[in-house]
Amino acid sequence: MRTVVISGASSGIGQATARRFARAGDRVVNLDVTAPRDPEPGEPSVAWLKVDTADWAAVRAALRQVHEETGRLDVVVANAGISVRHGVLDIEEADARRITDVNLLGVLGLWQAAARIMTAQGSGVLLATASVNGRRGYPFYADYNATKAGIVALTQTFALELSPAVRVACVSPGAVLTPMQLAEYTQEMLDATNAQIPAGRHAAPDEIAAAFFYLASADARFVTGHELVIDGGETAGATTSAHGTATAVPAVR
Ligand SMILES: NC(=O)c1ccc[n+]([C@@H]2O[C@H](COP(=O)([O-])OP(=O)(O)OC[C@H]3O[C@@H](n4cnc5c(N)ncnc54)[C@H](O)[C@@H]3O)[C@@H](O)[C@H]2O)c1
Repeated sequence: MRTVVISGASSGIGQATARRFARAGDRVVNLDVTAPRDPEPGEPSVAWLKVDTADWAAVRAALRQVHEETGRLDVVVANAGISVRHGVLDIEEADARRITDVNLLGVLGLWQAAARIMTAQGSGVLLATASVNGRRGYPFYADYNATKAGIVALTQTFALELSPAVRVACVSPGAVLTPMQLAEYTQEMLDATNAQIPAGRHAAPDEIAAAFFYLASADARFVTGHELVIDGGETAGATTSAHGTATAVPAVR
């Protein structure tokens, strides 16, 4: 039985990922600032430790506790993240610092604490949730976008330093229908986003969870230093022209 730690697993992508691993029989611990809701009957159990992943000392203590209790640390998914919709002229310093603390330094602190245990153990897999927002400009999320680009840099660097004992990868989702997305997008904005995605829709959290499950598995044993993009084709071309052209221009035979 693997020991799997996932941050931000009380909601959205993290919650779906925790359930995916727990259903497969893994022992799963959720590090989150908010409590998960009670599991429905038949749902596998996921332990919750109240941890702010921006607090490196608290993260180290939580991983020490998990390691002492289970004797292992096999997979860590640094998924907790926050965003604030604001234009570059209006970004408040406190917001930008908090977003960086949680989204970027939170991943670094969690991965470092885990890597110390995993290198001593001789094996482990470090994963994180980046975003297509780190791959190109998306208006009103400059600080968020920068943190997600930073996760890719962490992925490559950790992989180089920790191979071959520890594998490292991140998933860059496109639009995923989660509470985070629903909190910031009106139905009109969701529809407009769907129209820009070749797949024509948002991803379900389970579709991102499946990617994490694969990356943690032995099937992915040659995958390290890698960013896996799962975006329904959103970044396959220039966003608007890629989809717009395909629908507007009649096929040439
Ligand atoms: N939803 C999307 O479209 C989308 C797309 C790309 C990437 N992402 C990324 O996926 C990850 C999960 O997002 P989601 O959409 O599931 O969001 P969500 O808001 O549904 O869930 C995020 C979880 O993280 C927790 N959290 C926030 N700050 C924390 C902290 N400091 N310490 C511990 N836990 C904390 C929250 O309590 C919540 O349970 C984030 O990193 C986000 O940036 C989301």
